[in-house]
Amino acid sequence: MQRIKIALTKGRTEEQVVPLLEQAGINCEGIRHKGRRLIFDEDPRYEIILVKGPDVLTYLNNGSVQIGIVGSDILSEQENFQYAMLDLDVGKCRFVLASTKDFNPQVHRRKIIATKYPNITKRYFQGIGEDVEIIKIEGSVELAPLIGLADAIVDIVETGNTLKENNLQIFAKLQQVNTKVVVNRLALRQYQPQIKELIANLQTTNQQVVQKKSTKE
Ligand code: PRP
Repeated sequence: MQRIKIALTKGRTEEQVVPLLEQAGINCEGIRHKGRRLIFDEDPRYEIILVKGPDVLTYLNNGSVQIGIVGSDILSEQENFQYAMLDLDVGKCRFVLASTKDFNPQVHRRKIIATKYPNITKRYFQGIGEDVEIIKIEGSVELAPLIGLADAIVDIVETGNTLKENNLQIFAKLQQVNTKVVVNRLALRQYQPQIKELIANLQTTNQQVVQKKSTKE
């Protein structure tokens, strides 16, 4: 039987999803000790590749992988909502509008907003009927209002530590983010039993994790 190829977002998503995959009985030994390796085939049923979030959909749309594991922030930014099969209880965070404490959201001049997510930012400000200038930044967005590049930022907050340690405040809460398992439509037809089995397995494991968390709380 052919292996199912899974593109997993490297970094935080990888760190949070690997324990879930292991709990679902998928061998992730290679990823645990990965070094600079990018392809993992320790489990005979799957081939897992580690890629950057935006590239997950490139591999998926192209049919090079059958399954992607990616944050809803990426799906929302790329305006691609069609493939989501399963919501995982990991990678939960939220988009916020943040800045230094002297920022005035009511000020009438055209604001400059720095972000890694220009489409999400554009949709948010359009939604509140405000025209802003958006500057795309690749990382460490928190610097922008501190260094005078922008009036405020739209970015993701998970623990809130980055904002706190850089003396930034939240001025508005935007959409929530979580991790999603997405499937290529054609692959779903071609590999239906294998993909359905994997999704069902991840769904059960995810529910167990949610239940465990709620009994702890
Ligand atoms: C994300 C996000 C914030 C930070 C928030 O950045 O853009 O900077 O995490 O997390 P926290 O609320 O838990 O502090 P990431 O770590 O992905 O790195 P980057 O800034 O290089 O994009």
